[in-house]
Amino acid sequence: MKTEINFAGIKMKNPITVASGTFGYGSEYSNFIDLNKLGAIITKGVSYVPKTGNKSPRVCETPAGMINSIGLENPGIDYFIDNAMPFLSKYDTAVIVNAFGGAGGTVKDYVNVCEVLNKLDIDGVELNLSCPNVSSRMYGIWNNI
Ligand SMILES: Cc1cc2nc3c(=O)[nH]c(=O)nc-3n(C[C@H](O)[C@H](O)[C@H](O)COP(=O)(O)O)c2cc1C
Repeated sequence: MKTEINFAGIKMKNPITVASGTFGYGSEYSNFIDLNKLGAIITKGVSYVPKTGNKSPRVCETPAGMINSIGLENPGIDYFIDNAMPFLSKYDTAVIVNAFGGAGGTVKDYVNVCEVLNKLDIDGVELNLSCPNVSSRMYGIWNNI
């Protein structure tokens, strides 16, 4: 069966991927599933500088499931390059990096992170332009366009 797709110019062996933030940088799930079977891995959001995220409690059980408010915690682009990239590049799956500017949220912050990502051996960048769990000032990008 032919399962390959071309998604916005990204060749994927199948259309199965993971939502950003639900799968870390891939290594967290590698003992549970064969990552080679995924069409793409979309990483947890990466920012130019590390971000600590929201104060706890950040996860709450509800009758319908759970709600979370992580606040885009991540160790920043330098950590991503040194630790996540060597792991991800071992797999035969497309890598799409979810990226955002960082605490400032200015256009320049977004450009900075994208310029670094552009030099990496990745298949695509998914821009995170809004998140319900962080203050709107972080997305001042909308006021700057
Ligand atoms: C714990 C957690 C962390 C998330 N982190 C990010 C993130 O870093 N970047 C992002 O764009 N979306 C993030 N999301 C949102 C998911 O990518 C996805 O849009 C959301 O879970 C809704 O998926 P659904 O429409 O398939 O239900 C996160 C979601 C969860 C549950």
